This record gives sequence, structure tokens and C-alpha cells, in this order.
Amino acid sequence: MTIRTAFFHAGSLALFTAALAGAAPRAQTDTPAEKQYKNIKVFTGSPAKEILPAMNAMTAALGVKCTFCHAQDDKGQWQFEKDTEKKDTAREMVTMMRKINSDNFQGNMTVTCATCHQGHSSPNRFAPLGQPPASERPTATTGSAIPTADSLVDKYMQAIGGPVAVAKIQTLDMKADAQFDTTPAKVEIISKAPGKVLNTMMFGPATYVRGYDGAVAWGKDAGNPAVADESASEIAFYSPYSYLSPRSFYTSFQRVRKDTLDGKDVYVVGAQSKFDNLRQRLYFDVNTGLLVRVWTATNTLVGAVPGTEDYSDYRDVNGVKIPFKVVDTTGEGVNTFTFTTVTPNADVPDSKFARPKG
Ligand code: HEC
Ligand code: HEC
Repeated sequence: MTIRTAFFHAGSLALFTAALAGAAPRAQTDTPAEKQYKNIKVFTGSPAKEILPAMNAMTAALGVKCTFCHAQDDKGQWQFEKDTEKKDTAREMVTMMRKINSDNFQGNMTVTCATCHQGHSSPNRFAPLGQPPASERPTATTGSAIPTADSLVDKYMQAIGGPVAVAKIQTLDMKADAQFDTTPAKVEIISKAPGKVLNTMMFGPATYVRGYDGAVAWGKDAGNPAVADESASEIAFYSPYSYLSPRSFYTSFQRVRKDTLDGKDVYVVGAQSKFDNLRQRLYFDVNTGLLVRVWTATNTLVGAVPGTEDYSDYRDVNGVKIPFKVVDTTGEGVNTFTFTTVTPNADVPDSKFARPKG
């Protein structure tokens, strides 16, 4: 099994990034990490669904792959529960990071793995003389030249066909040829308004499924009979309604600044997701008004991890422009989805999205 299949398990595939005003939807299941996994020592007591987002954050912070800390057997099967020297070091680092934050930063997650590691497994101990300084944080821009956040969202809705046309599409069945870094796969994303989703990833005969019924997110992997808890905020964003119906996925849109992306002018809108562990920014093309990127920072047990979704090749489906190409970039790699068929309004029962027994 390749890294990429574990990666699904990592749930980090697409932050195709969901409930209602303010709070994250309460999952009906909240299995503790040590019950779902075999060898948990530092994350004991945290929800199982938080483990893989934390793994993604550590992987990105150190600029490594899962293999850096985890062993595989001679057939290439992952042995995530097996301890390695690096895994032990990482546990010590988690304890150190917590102590730094509790001793100095009122227990806030101020210092993270990324603060020191900056994408390197071995942090620099010398000043980076001669290198350009790190880029500054984007700052808010105000003034009459910059439209309001809400007007940009309205302009986007008009650009894709308008809310009335979008409301006429109640379900979407989308098939894609996908590429997870270098591993090809077939993907089917079935979604129902306002954001229920079932995402099936097929690597030859090996099938990995992720579902979200509007409250509970779950996952089931090839070769594993167990159904796992997943992070609702990660799974919900697989739904195309996250970008077709932003007003049902975000509770508010805030400050705007102007920037460029791949040589094009864009407005960047800060957005409060209905999942309170996410901070997001929406990038709208100044000329077309279309959504070209969603940037997401996901809070995990070891600090925030960033990721982007890039949308292009918008095509008409029942009067609504839908991006036929989506590129998902995380610390672990780049995943590309090229949609081949998009079928609106197929009859899909709600039961399709419910967490299966087992
Ligand atoms: C920097 C080291 C590091 C990296 C990189 C890393 N992990 Fe981990 N992983 C750990 C540590 C440490 C634990 C044990 C946590 C604990 O003791 O609470 C763990 C535990 C796990 C577990 C639970 C295993 C069990 O049954 O106990 C899984 C699954 C896992 N990691 C998957 C991944 C995946 C997938 C990736 C790549 C996206 C990854 N890890 C990257 C350090 C790492
Ligand atoms: C305060 C700074 C700091 C923070 C925070 C920090 N690290 Fe480290 N980490 C270091 C330093 C420094 C080293 C190198 C130690 C050495 O060279 O002996 C290191 C080494 C490591 C190594 C061993 C690398 C190797 O090549 O063997 C791992 C794995 C690691 N850190 C994981 C993590 C993880 C995961 C986190 C977050 C939970 C984290 N670190 C947070 C400073 C930090």
C-alpha cells in the first residue's frame, strides 16, 4: 500500500471544505483516540477524529512524509502503531510544546511544531544571514476602492448563474479522474444540498469511502471492516455545495484585501466557516468574479495546518458554472481532480450519507 492510501486515512485529501451559525455541529460519536487506535500515549483523551489532522500538521511542519516517523512491513503495509525513534522524539516534542505554551502563553497554541521546524525536520540553530526576510502577514485593506466582502460573495453567486439556478440543483453526482501526488485513482463525489456528501476513492479494487450526513462524519477503508470517526470539517468540504453555496458553509464574510494569484488580480475575503476549528480565505478573480482559491487553516492538536483548494475550468451544468478541475494542496502533497461527468438531480436518499453500522 502506498503512502497515498494512508493519506486518505489522513482525511486530508480535499478540504473541499460546513451547520449553522457559529458552532461546529456536534458529532454524535466521539470515540477517544486510544479506543480507535492501538498505541496512543500523548494524545490520550483527545477525540480519535483529531489524530489524523494532527498527523497532517506534524508532517507539514517538518516538511516530511508519513514514512519519516512510521514503519511499513516488507509488503509495504503501514504499521502506524509500531514505535520508531522518530515517533518517540515526536512524542517528546508534543510534551515540550505543551509545556512551552502552558508556561509562557497561557496555554494557547502559540508555539507549534511549525514555529521551530519551518518545514525542516532539523530546525536551524543559526540565523539565516543573507536570506530575504519572511513575508509579512497579509493586512486588512479598507477604502472605497475595495468592495465589501458580502458584495463579492453576491457577485460570485451571479457569476456562477445566480442563487435561483443553484437552488434548482438539489443533488450532484460527480465522477473524476484523480491524481494523489503520483498515484492515479477514480473518485465519485455524491452530494445533496445543503452539504451532505459521500466521497468514494478507488485505487484499482481498493475502495476508500468518506461520508458526512450533515452532523456526523465517518470513514471506511479498504481491508478494514471498522468504521472510523472523521473530522466533520474535513469531510464536509468534499461537497461541491461548499463552493456553490458558500452562504450555507460560512457564517460570515469579513475583511477584504487585494492580491495577485498566478499573475491575476484577486480579492481575498476572510470567511468564518460554520466549523469553528477552521479559518478560511476565499480568493475571487477581480475580472470574472469566480472563486479561484479557498485557503484553509485547520486547528489540530499540535497547531494550525494550512491547505488550499484551487478551482478552474468552470463549465455549465444546468445553468450553473461548476469548476471541472480542483487542485488540493496540503503539506503532504498535491491532489488533482479532473471531473469527467457531472450529473445533476439524480435521486439520492438521505440514508446514503449515514454512518454505516460496524
Ligand atoms: C513527526 C512524526 C510523525 C509523522 C510525520 C507522522 N506521525 Fe503518525 N504518529 C506519530 C506519533 C508520535 C504517534 C503516536 C501519538 C501518541 O502517542 O499519542 C502517531 C500515531 C499515528 C497513528 C495511530 C497509530 C496507532 O494505532 O496507535 C496513525 C494512524 C498515524 N500516526 C498516521 C500517520 C499518517 C497517515 C501520517 C502522514 C500523514 C503520519 N502519521 C505522520 C508521529 C508522526
Ligand atoms: C521550541 C522549538 C521546537 C518545537 C516547538 C518543536 N521542535 Fe522538534 N525539534 C527541535 C529541535 C531544535 C530539534 C533538533 C534537535 C537536535 O538536533 O538534537 C528537533 C527535532 C525533532 C525531531 C527529530 C528530527 C530528526 O531528524 O531526527 C522530530 C521528529 C521533531 N522534532 C518533531 C517535532 C514535532 C512533531 C513538533 C510539534 C509537536 C516539534 N518537533 C516541535 C525544536 C522544536
